[in-house]
Amino acid sequence: MILSEFTQNVFYVGVNDQTTYQFENLWPLPYGVTYNSYLVKGSTKNALIESVEISQCMKLIERLRSIDPEIRIDYLVINHMEPDHSGSVSVLKHYFPEMQIVGNLQTMGMLKGYYNISTDTLVVKEGDTLDLGNLTLRFHMTPMLHWPETMMTYLVENKVLFSGDAFGCFGAINGGIVDSEIGNDSMLTYKLEMFRYYANIVAKYGSFVQKALSKLSGIPIDYVCSTHGPIWHERINDVIETYNRLSKNISEEGVVIVYGSMYGHTEEMVDVLARQLAVCGIKNIKIHNISKTHESFILRDIYRYRGLIIACPTYNASIFPPVETLLSSLLLRGTENKVFTQVGSFTWSPAGIKKIAELCQSLKFQSVGIPVSMKQSITADTIAACLDLAKQFASALKQSDATIV
Ligand code: FEO
Repeated sequence: MILSEFTQNVFYVGVNDQTTYQFENLWPLPYGVTYNSYLVKGSTKNALIESVEISQCMKLIERLRSIDPEIRIDYLVINHMEPDHSGSVSVLKHYFPEMQIVGNLQTMGMLKGYYNISTDTLVVKEGDTLDLGNLTLRFHMTPMLHWPETMMTYLVENKVLFSGDAFGCFGAINGGIVDSEIGNDSMLTYKLEMFRYYANIVAKYGSFVQKALSKLSGIPIDYVCSTHGPIWHERINDVIETYNRLSKNISEEGVVIVYGSMYGHTEEMVDVLARQLAVCGIKNIKIHNISKTHESFILRDIYRYRGLIIACPTYNASIFPPVETLLSSLLLRGTENKVFTQVGSFTWSPAGIKKIAELCQSLKFQSVGIPVSMKQSITADTIAACLDLAKQFASALKQSDATIV
């Protein structure tokens, strides 16, 4: 392992996970994921910021020993107790018995609950500092990002913010650890994976993101070190602004069309809608067949773009099941400022369209036009109605208030 001291006395010692299929056993990982850990070497004390998921623990220990075979870890700072970061605590304690575990009161309750550890701990609260000799760590409580105990740690002298999951993204490290080492093509993948991470993991807690951003606003930051993905250095403003906009429900001009189609009839309506939207000048149109695309990618695009169209057949006198699941996910997370419409198909009863309309009332969508309801197969009248709806939708989208990211 080549040493990765990205700023003086601060080392990246995180690990790649390229074998796990689904993060939290829920979210696919086509590009892998990292569990980031950082060593801060002070003149009198060393602090490790975060551990890693348990299956990667020995890699972390090897990385630490590659820095110094006799290394001593005086403190383990736990910004977040979810086991993808805290999983190695017990093993680390075995290898580094002198280590004190640093966290807030909520951290300590979880430490006892998950690992039965309640000794050699140091409880910190907002603004507390920890002296490492020539370096100082300062702690900021940022609850519900995305667990109650989440906090951030700031290395004062180097202006490094260890931000927990905030500003993180899926995607393994491919050589480049700091964003300045990563080209634009790879960066685009990380950016999309940041949208997906936010939509699936953080979106429910947008108001807490805003509180955290407000708390951090006066702090000078040279590096943002999250628990997943690259270290942000050149793109700090971009990632903070991305979080700011997402948490304020400010989205880009574009339309996500999510459809279910058992035999291709509903899909024909989607083709008509999408083509007319493009003719009307809408350039970002993302179509997802809900039976083929994992929900996490659909949620990513829904949070990113302002327009949402659902096309759905009636099934068992209700909503096509995967569409119902998606709507539940949106209800759980909450989303606002969406320009919305729907079309649907049925064989003998158009019950699905009515049920979607009922569910969407709770989502506070801005509904456009009258949903097009198609019986059995597409006709000239259906095509005309879809064309008209798409024109209304494009117009409403362009007039909506949100700004383009
Ligand atoms: Fe990366 Fe919430 O754990």
